[in-house]
Amino acid sequence: MDINSIKNIKSFKSLAQEKLHPELYEYLVGGADDLRTFRRNIDAWSHYQIRPRRLVDVSKVDTSAELFGQKVKAPIVLAPIGILGMFHPEGASGSTKAAKNKGLAAITSTVTNQSYQTIVASSNYNPWFQLYPTTNISARNTLVKRAEENACKVLVWTIDVPVIGNRERHAKMLVDNVHGRSANMGNLHDLIGPDDSFHSPSMTWEFLDWLKQNTKMQIILKGIMTHEDARIAVDRGADGIIISNHGGRQLESDLSTIECLEEVINEVNGKIPVLIDGGIRRGTDIFKALALGATAVCIGRPYVYGLAVAGQKGVERILDILTEELERNMRLAGVTNISEFNTNFVRRSYDSKASKWNT
Ligand SMILES: Cc1cc2nc3c(=O)[nH]c(=O)nc-3n(C[C@H](O)[C@H](O)[C@H](O)COP(=O)(O)O)c2cc1C
Repeated sequence: MDINSIKNIKSFKSLAQEKLHPELYEYLVGGADDLRTFRRNIDAWSHYQIRPRRLVDVSKVDTSAELFGQKVKAPIVLAPIGILGMFHPEGASGSTKAAKNKGLAAITSTVTNQSYQTIVASSNYNPWFQLYPTTNISARNTLVKRAEENACKVLVWTIDVPVIGNRERHAKMLVDNVHGRSANMGNLHDLIGPDDSFHSPSMTWEFLDWLKQNTKMQIILKGIMTHEDARIAVDRGADGIIISNHGGRQLESDLSTIECLEEVINEVNGKIPVLIDGGIRRGTDIFKALALGATAVCIGRPYVYGLAVAGQKGVERILDILTEELERNMRLAGVTNISEFNTNFVRRSYDSKASKWNT
């Protein structure tokens, strides 16, 4: 199949469904409880509309940006996804290589099949490392040390998994692949035993202080949803924030990530970069996030659809689709580079101050 003929994320999703075992597909597309947060992540983008400006010279448009000292071709980052090797043998290495080839940043998960060292060596690229701190303190320290020793510059600490969310429809998959088979986990197999867990319910803000003292890597907190926590993150020295609800896989909060963006942006007030993930399926979603103040977006399930369909090449195609859509939409709305984005390019159909829907 010529993957260049696949035009959008939705078509990739359908093809991924055909390829994957139903349980594995469910693990990928599923979420917590009744999937209301998962669905709201996707639906909420349509409650924001783009206000295009006309008669701007858009013959040249530049999507490039700088993220944590790294120059990227677009502010689009691969979100960390666990056990990518289940979806395609090229797994995390293939996805990382795809990001590298497209000039984009990628985050690699703690719970992926290959170790961080292997991914770096095979891709000749240093993705950001996502940390699940584990219940085992020595394992936690070693994970941080190994990332730094392998020239990782950015550590992404995921803070929305004190316990696993209630994912009823893929509970078996999780039990089989994450808890029971830590031997399959490149980063963890020599570090944790059967009584340890990759997530830790006892983590508090003090661990951010520990990280600041014990590593030179920049620290991003992934999973912030409120201005209160954004404030603490800034005050305690985080270098960045990812607004995320884990793709609706953790707390069924009935709140989408885009609905949290404004309050977090206002609180952070430009002090550190604010990234966002959740339900981003089109270049217009990326456009809206950037206009509302996000520094970049992270993409989760969409690139795994690409991976499942065609390995690294499939991920590359997904990244091309999203980058081209962003670029086209910038042209259509009169934005020539990322620094021109501002809130005037978006209107919200729900006016929270007036408590009414605009029509
Ligand atoms: C199958 C799957 C596995 C995930 N694994 C991780 C993980 O290991 N670490 C993490 O921080 N987030 C993980 N996430 C959450 C993603 O990083 C991201 O927050 C989410 O997928 C964004 O939503 P989207 O899929 O709608 O783009 C996972 C998500 C999915 C769908």
